[in-house]
Amino acid sequence: VGLLSSRSRSSCSSLLPHSLLPPKAMVSSRLRSSTSSSLVTRSRVPLAIVLVCCARHVAGFAPSLSSLSSLQHGIRARTSFVCGRLPSTARSDLRRKFVAPCRSLASSTQDGSFTKDLEDEIKKQGDVVRNMKAAMKEDSASHSKEELDAAVKKLLDLKAKLEAPKQEEEKVAVVGDAPVRVSNIGPLALARNRLKVREIMMSQENLVGKEVIVKGWVRTVRSQKSFSFIELNDGSLPKGIQIVVNADLPTYAEVEKLCTGASVAVKGTIVESPGQGQQYEVAASEIELVGDCSGKDYPLQKKRHTLEFLRSIAHLRPRTNTLGSIARVRSALAQATHAFFQKQGFLYLQSPIITASDCEGAGEMFRVTTLPSEVDKLPKTKEGSIDYSKDFFGKPAYLTVSGQLSGETFACALGDIYTFGPTFRAENSQTSRHLAEFWMIEPEMAFADLQSVMENAEAYVKFVVKHALETCGEDLAFFNQMYDKTLLERLKDLVEKPFAKVSYSEAVELLQAEIAKDKSKWQYPDVKFGTDLSTEHERWLAEKKFQAPTFVYNYPRGIKAFYMRDNDDGKTVAATDLLVPGIGELVGGSQREERLDVLVDKLKEFGLSPEDYWWYLDLRRYGSTPHAGYGLGFERLVCYVTATENIRDAIAYPRYPGNAEF
Ligand code: 4AD
Ligand code: MG
Repeated sequence: VGLLSSRSRSSCSSLLPHSLLPPKAMVSSRLRSSTSSSLVTRSRVPLAIVLVCCARHVAGFAPSLSSLSSLQHGIRARTSFVCGRLPSTARSDLRRKFVAPCRSLASSTQDGSFTKDLEDEIKKQGDVVRNMKAAMKEDSASHSKEELDAAVKKLLDLKAKLEAPKQEEEKVAVVGDAPVRVSNIGPLALARNRLKVREIMMSQENLVGKEVIVKGWVRTVRSQKSFSFIELNDGSLPKGIQIVVNADLPTYAEVEKLCTGASVAVKGTIVESPGQGQQYEVAASEIELVGDCSGKDYPLQKKRHTLEFLRSIAHLRPRTNTLGSIARVRSALAQATHAFFQKQGFLYLQSPIITASDCEGAGEMFRVTTLPSEVDKLPKTKEGSIDYSKDFFGKPAYLTVSGQLSGETFACALGDIYTFGPTFRAENSQTSRHLAEFWMIEPEMAFADLQSVMENAEAYVKFVVKHALETCGEDLAFFNQMYDKTLLERLKDLVEKPFAKVSYSEAVELLQAEIAKDKSKWQYPDVKFGTDLSTEHERWLAEKKFQAPTFVYNYPRGIKAFYMRDNDDGKTVAATDLLVPGIGELVGGSQREERLDVLVDKLKEFGLSPEDYWWYLDLRRYGSTPHAGYGLGFERLVCYVTATENIRDAIAYPRYPGNAEF
C-alpha cells in the first residue's frame, strides 16, 4: 500500500511488513486515507496482494524472505503496469505469478476486488456481438439492428464499468467463512401446522388473535431497544410478513444472531398491522433460528441486484422478489395450460425426448450417444465414417427439437392431444429470446385446419393470461411497479380484445409502405415476398401497426418446414406465426400436409429421406386426416406475462451456448 501511495521502492520495503500486521479493517482504512487513492482503486490487484499477505499472516505462515521479496517485486511491477511502463512479456509473467493467484483469493474474500467476473462478462458479451455480426453477414434477417445496437451498448457499458472506480461491487459468497453452527432442528422447525404467508394474507376470515406457525427466510431485521422487527419471506408471495419480537422473549438471544438469509421458524399470534400495505403481522411468542446465515457473505443483500449478477448465483436467485415472482407465475401458467386443454378434451401426451428425426429439418440437434469420446476409439465403417450401428440406439439419435411428429401420430388416433415438455435446440444463438433447452406446448388437432390453429392458440393464450391475472395479482403488481408500468393494462387488453390477423403478403405490403417513408430507420429495408421477416419487422407489425398480438398467415413455402400443407396458389403454405408486442414470435403453427404424394415429394425437395420418415408417412397411407397444430414457447410466454426482458430469467436454470452451470 505504501508503495502504491508513494510509488517508491524504499517506502515499499519499509511499509509492506507493517501492512502485514494490522487487521484487515486497518488495511482498508489505510487505503482510504491514501493520498493517491484513485490509483489504489484503479489498480485492484495490488490490493489483493496485500490481502494475500494478511491471509498468510492470519493463517500463521510468516512470509519467507523470498516470498516477501517476490511480493515486493510483484507490487512494484504491477504499479509500473498501472503506469503503463511494464513490457508485455513481464506482464504475462506477472499475470501468471501474481495476478491470477491473487484474483482467486480476492474472489473468495469479502474485500477483494472483483474485476474477474466483469472481464468474463465482457469476453462473453464480445462473443455475443461477434456472433451476431457474423450471423447477420450470413443471414441479414437473423438479428435486427436494434438487437445489435443493444448488444454493442451493453459491451461498452461493461467496459466503462471496468474502467470506473469500484463503487458497489457485487460478490459471491465466501466458502469456509460461514457460521460454525449452521443448522438447528428444534421443535418448531418440523412442526406440521405451519401457515404460508399467502394463506394468511389472502385469508377470507379475520385472523386477528389466531395462533400460527410461520417459517421462512429473513429478509431484514431491525432492532430497537425493546423490540425487533423481522421481515420473513417464505416464497408464497413477493411480500413477506412482519414478525414483531419483544425483547423480553426468553429466546430473544436468537434474534440478535439473525442475519439476512437465515431460516427461522416462528410461533406467534396474528395482530393487525399498523404499517401500510399489509393487513397482518405476527407477534412472536417463540422463535427458533433453524439455519444460520453469515450475513456479511450472503450474496443477496438488501439492495437491487442486476439480473445478470443473479444468473451467476442461480441457486440462490429464487429467493429474490423478481425470480420468486417469475417462478410463481410460471407455475400458474403451467397449471392453467393443463386446465385449458383438459377442459377442451385434449389428451396430454408425453412425447419422447430422445429421437432420431429432425422435426424442423434445421439440423440444430444435440446428439445422444454412448460411443467413446476418444476419436481413435470410435467404431468405423468400411468406408471410414463413424459406425452408428454400434451406438446405443443402433443409429444416430438426438434430443428432440419438437414433439410434433409424435403428437401427430396420437392426434391421428385420439383426436386432440397436447404435449408440454422440454425441447432442445443446438443453435448458437445468444439472443434474449433463445434458449438451448426450452419448454414447448404443442397441441395437435385432427380434422382441423389453419383456422382451428389460430382460434385455439388465441383462446389458449387468453385463458392462461386471465388465470395469471386472477391468481398471481401480487406478483403481476410487482412486475408492473418495478419493470413495466403498462403491464397490467396490456395483459387485460390481451384478454379482452381480439387478436389481429394479416396474411404474409399483406404484411409485406404494409411493411414496404412503411419502410418507403424513411428507409434509414430500418436495418433490413429490403422486404419482399420470400423474405423471412426479422424481429424489427415482426415487432413493427405487432407493436405499431396492429398494437395487438397478430397472426401472420400463409407464409412462402420456401421459408417454412417440410410438413406444412401447400396452399393451392403453389407459392404459400398454411402456416401461421403469432407475433406479440415486446417478444416477436410466440407461436409457430400450421396445417399439416396430409397428402401422401405431396409430402413424399416435399421431403425429397427439402433434402430429407422419405425412408427415415416411413412411420410419419404411414399416417397419410392409412386413414389420412386433415390435421393441424402449433408450438408455443413457454419461456417466451413467461417473459410476456412477467415483463421479463431476457428469456434466461424465465426458466430456473437457463441453458445457452457456453453455459450449463448449476
Ligand atoms: O416455430 P417453431 O420452431 O415450431 C415448431 O417447433 C413446430 N414443430 C411447432 C408445432 O407446430 N408443433 O417453435 C415453436 C415456438 C416458437 O414460436 C417459439 O415461441 C419457441 O417455440 N421457440 C423457442 N423458445 C426459446 N428458445 C428457442 N431456441 C426457441 N425456438 C423456438
Ligand atoms: Mg417458428
